[in-house]
Amino acid sequence: PLPVILDGDPGHDDVMNVLLALTSPELHVLGLTTVFGNVGLTRTTRNMLITRELARSDVPVHAGADRPLVVPTISAEAVHGASGLDGPHLPTPTRDIEGEHAVDFIVRTVREHPHPVTLVPTGPLTNIALALRLAPDIAQNVARIVWMGGSTDTGNWTPAAEFNALADPHAAHIVLTSGVPVTMIGLNASHQAIAHPARVQAFRDLSTPVGDFVAELLAFFADHHRERYGWDGGALHDPLTVAWLLRPELFKTRPMYVQLDLTDGPSQGRTVADVWNVTGHAPNADVMTDVDADGFFALLVQRIAAYR
Ligand code: BDR
Ligand code: CA
Repeated sequence: PLPVILDGDPGHDDVMNVLLALTSPELHVLGLTTVFGNVGLTRTTRNMLITRELARSDVPVHAGADRPLVVPTISAEAVHGASGLDGPHLPTPTRDIEGEHAVDFIVRTVREHPHPVTLVPTGPLTNIALALRLAPDIAQNVARIVWMGGSTDTGNWTPAAEFNALADPHAAHIVLTSGVPVTMIGLNASHQAIAHPARVQAFRDLSTPVGDFVAELLAFFADHHRERYGWDGGALHDPLTVAWLLRPELFKTRPMYVQLDLTDGPSQGRTVADVWNVTGHAPNADVMTDVDADGFFALLVQRIAAYR
């Protein structure tokens, strides 16, 4: 199985990504790491612990960065609620995090692992950037960074910027200039994956505790998308990362040169993607362009069904 570390800021869609990964035999999840983002680090970490227990997994959870490298901290309670995971009843986790900081865990694990490790961040890239700065040697044993963030077109937190990119643009810059192969799954792709009511019902129809939990997450997540965009469901951003690892044939990607706008102005955090290669610059990311949404949701339902 492919060794992976999942790094995220759960977050409704982060949770679905973790659940998808932990039930997929193609992957060996070495650890779960958390970062500030949708809500503060204490809450994203608690939500990760809840998710691990829901999945009945033993995988270690490590807490990471509680703030971005340079810019002021932002958060997304407006989308995910005060808990970061509003909607379902949230149990109290019984097992705690490990003592080791997420960045140290990533560095140690990547260095020690006999095979190249794939990093799957679905939040601000602070932990990944810090790991690459702390231990540049790990780049050679990172197979790929599969990131949900950015966009080839418009943003969702400012007109120009997607939330994860805006939350730590300097970290995203470090990752995109690291030389490690990157897959960037941005809003232009994730807005093709809408969890409309029939798709939510498919999880409810599983009639399992995890199926119900997921359906309640998606029902809450839909509200913001209905109000903001007029869509009949939430855009399931983060699980596209693991789904791409599992079933790349459901997606199209295209190599592009992507640059972070770090200037202090209305475009800060924009991932300027050279879709037509007008700069002639060598690509630094495989950018997702097309999503087979029916295939993606069928995969999710099939894998979530494995939780009994
Ligand atoms: C991203 O921001 C968060 O709200 C989601 O979890 C996702 O990672 C989408 O812009
Ligand atoms: Ca996220």
